[in-house]
Amino acid sequence: MRLIPLLTLSFLLFYSAVTTQASPCSINGFPLVRNISELPQDSYGRGGLSHITVAGSLLHGLKEVEVWLQTFSPGSFTPIHRHSCEEVFVVMKGSGTLYLAESSHAKYPGKPQEYLIFANSTFHIPVNEVHQVWNTNEHEDLQVLVIISRPPVKVFTYEDWLMPHTAAKLKFPYFWDEQCVQTPQKDEL
Ligand SMILES: *[C@@H]1O[C@H](CO)[C@@H](O)[C@H](O)[C@H]1NC(C)=O
Ligand SMILES: *[C@@H]1O[C@H](CO)[C@@H](O)[C@H](O)[C@H]1NC(C)=O
Repeated sequence: MRLIPLLTLSFLLFYSAVTTQASPCSINGFPLVRNISELPQDSYGRGGLSHITVAGSLLHGLKEVEVWLQTFSPGSFTPIHRHSCEEVFVVMKGSGTLYLAESSHAKYPGKPQEYLIFANSTFHIPVNEVHQVWNTNEHEDLQVLVIISRPPVKVFTYEDWLMPHTAAKLKFPYFWDEQCVQTPQKDEL
């Protein structure tokens, strides 16, 4: 019978597909020096976004910081959100607008301040301040290098600037961490 070798072959193909898929979440086996152009890049279902985890907690085993390279096509944006970690942006290319509702004791973020961001500019988001980054440049991609503390990130999202803080929705694991989180981690918030 030819069935057995066929079954064996399909099992082997299936098995190698499974192991290849599992490898992005392994914290071992990464070369120390990595070519960013060859790292996995995905939109994670978000229109206009390209995300690369340059150095990650779940991906590479980092404990204190995590680094992303993100590209927003014209008109695309992050959700309105906050997180209890520090976040530093370095704008590599393009321009856009940062919306930031600076900390107040109000029950909701309120009307944000608007800041123009541009190539070779940098800014940081203080812990828990509600913000949104928007590529408001119609002609160019906005590319940012993002460094966060306390990974993996736990994000609270808002539908609008008047939504009460208590109604903000926790998204954890965040889009690019979903594939690598096996057991939900203890939430320290
Ligand atoms: C990095 O990867 C890109 C895309 O595969 C390739 O074109 C480039 O030559 C690589 N750089 C080095 C130094 O290997
Ligand atoms: C960014 O600013 C630094 C410091 O002035 C400068 O050396 C560098 O060339 C600038 N890069 C770009 C892309 O403008």
